[in-house]
Amino acid sequence: MAKVQTVRIDRLLSSMGYGSRSEIAQMAKSGGIRLDGAKLLNVAERIPVTTDLPDRMEIRGEALDPLAGMVVLLNKPLGLTCSHKDDGALVYDILPGRWKLRKPAISTIGRLDKNTSGLLLLTDDGALLHRVISPKRDVKKTYRVTLARPLDGSEGEQFASGLLMLNGESKPLAPADLQVISETDARLTITEGRYHQVRRMFAATGNHVEALHRERLGDLSLPAAMAPGQWTLLREDEIALVFQ
Ligand code: URA
Repeated sequence: MAKVQTVRIDRLLSSMGYGSRSEIAQMAKSGGIRLDGAKLLNVAERIPVTTDLPDRMEIRGEALDPLAGMVVLLNKPLGLTCSHKDDGALVYDILPGRWKLRKPAISTIGRLDKNTSGLLLLTDDGALLHRVISPKRDVKKTYRVTLARPLDGSEGEQFASGLLMLNGESKPLAPADLQVISETDARLTITEGRYHQVRRMFAATGNHVEALHRERLGDLSLPAAMAPGQWTLLREDEIALVFQ
């Protein structure tokens, strides 16, 4: 049987952004940490790192945050940047503040432009992040696109051809699937993640993307009830949908 890893409580909580180790000792002294309902005073104690810890431990009356290996699904609002160090508002600003201090750090899995909304995943699991963005995995990304001008009817064939070349690039795009919804609305599924890819694909056809919203990653859809700015933690079976 695999041995369960143990960790000092102050070290664990500090790596989760709850404060420095001395601040955590202070919080315990004032009764702010509970384990299985009882006040926990000795933060130098080691505890087994098991997935049920967030159900067993309370910090200042709230369940412990998820342990390392978390995956967040966010409905990204317009106007936020997928960067750790941009001057403007960042996607990390709408998540709990202490998460910015977590180690390992939480990062977006791929990026959406500032002016693109919709399904965005974030994780502290580097291996998962690389699996999702790896060009070898061909993870499908589906976008709802609103265009400035009516489609001319040739776009579906151009995008599916595997021959479309983006401005300034030397390798044609992999085939992509276009579903026309109306003269100026479409759903586009791509498997690559080149810079501003969807906007540049329509620019290559002489059109302009007015609004862009990601609806799906693989078979994982953004829940219809999730308002912009809302987020949820994903279970393993939901994460697996990304690779379908
Ligand atoms: N394509 C774009 O142009 N922008 C995005 O945010 C995602 C795909």
